[in-house]
Amino acid sequence: MSDELERPIAIVGNLNVDQIVSTVTRFPEWDEELIVQSSRLELAGTAGYLALAARRLGLRPFVVSTVGADANGDFLRRELAVAGIDDTGVETIPELPTCLGMVFVGDRGQRGILTVLGAHERMTVAVAERHDAAVSACAEVFLCGNFLLPRFSPRLAAAYARRLRARGQVVVFDPSWDPGGWCPDTRADTLALLDVVNLFMPNEEELCRLTGTTTWRDGVAAIGPRPDEIVVKRGARGAVSVTSDRVVAVAGLPVEAVNTTGAGDVFDMSYVYARRQGWETRQCLEFACAAAACIVSQTGSRTYPDEREVRAFAARISPGLV
Ligand SMILES: Nc1ncnc2c1ncn2[C@@H]1O[C@H](COP(=O)(O)OP(=O)(O)OP(=O)(O)O)[C@@H](O)[C@H]1O
Ligand SMILES: [Mg+2]
Repeated sequence: MSDELERPIAIVGNLNVDQIVSTVTRFPEWDEELIVQSSRLELAGTAGYLALAARRLGLRPFVVSTVGADANGDFLRRELAVAGIDDTGVETIPELPTCLGMVFVGDRGQRGILTVLGAHERMTVAVAERHDAAVSACAEVFLCGNFLLPRFSPRLAAAYARRLRARGQVVVFDPSWDPGGWCPDTRADTLALLDVVNLFMPNEEELCRLTGTTTWRDGVAAIGPRPDEIVVKRGARGAVSVTSDRVVAVAGLPVEAVNTTGAGDVFDMSYVYARRQGWETRQCLEFACAAAACIVSQTGSRTYPDEREVRAFAARISPGLV
C-alpha cells in the first residue's frame, strides 16, 4: 500500500448514541403507555457510522467530537475501542450529557427521531483546532452533522474548511437533514461553505431543500461549480456524480431495504475509499451503491462490509457490476 493510501481520514462532527425503539405501530397519546418489542443502544451519528465504515474498509479514521462524562459517553468510547478507532479527538464535556438520538422505528422500517444535543452544544471549531496535529496528517477531512452542532454550524465551519483546503486536504461535506427547517440564512451559509468543499455528498431531498429546487439536476445547476464534485444519493434509485465537465449516474442495486439507518454514511465512506484507490467515477459510484445496498438489506445487528464483502455482495445481487 502506498503512503498516500495509508494516510488517516479525519471525521469532524456528530458522534452520538442512538436508543433505537421498535416496533412503533402508533405513538402514545399524552399520559398513555404502550409496550414495544425491543430497544437497543448503538454507536451512531454521521461521524460514528462513517468511522465504523472506514475502519472496516481498512482506513484509519480519526474522529473529532464531544461526549459527556456519563454512561453513554463511556459506551461510545468502548465501542470505538472495540472497532479499533482512535478516540483521542473525542473530548469529554463534564457538564453536559452525551448527545442522544431516540429513534422510533415503525413497521415498515420508517423512523422518527427525537434528539438531545447535550455535549454537541459544545462541539466548536476550537475543539477541532485542538486536535489539529492529528487532523493535519489526514488526506481527507470529512465534515458532518453541522446542522446539529450550533457552534460548528455551516457558517462557522466555512473558515475552518478554507484553512484545510488551503493546505491541500480534501474537504468532504455531508449536510444531512436540517432539523431547523432549511431557513434562508442556513441555506445561504451552507451554500457559502460549498465554495471551500471539494466533495459535497447530499441526498437528493437535502440538495433540493438547500437549493429550493425539485430535481437533482436543477439542484446541482443551482449550486454550480462551488465544490469540485457533487455526489447525490438517490436512495433506491442509486447515485450520481457531477463535476464541471461530466455527469455519471448509476442505478441502485435491486435489494429489499430492511434498515436504511446509516446507509448514506456507508455510501459516503465507500465512495471516498474508492476514490482513494484511483478508480473511475463509475466504479466508485457502483462500489458505494453496493456497500450501501449491503447495509440496507441486512436483517438483525449491523456489520459493515470490507471491500471483499462488498464485491461478493454485488456479485450475488447484480453479477458483473462491481
Ligand atoms: N432501497 C434501497 N435499495 C437499494 N439501495 C439503496 C436503497 N436505499 C438506499 N440505498 C443505497 O444507499 C445510498 C444512500 O441512501 P440514501 O440516498 O437514502 O442516503 P441518505 O438519505 O443520505 O441516507 P441516511 O439516512 O443514512 O443519511 C443510495 O445512494 C443507494 O446506493
Ligand atoms: Mg444522509
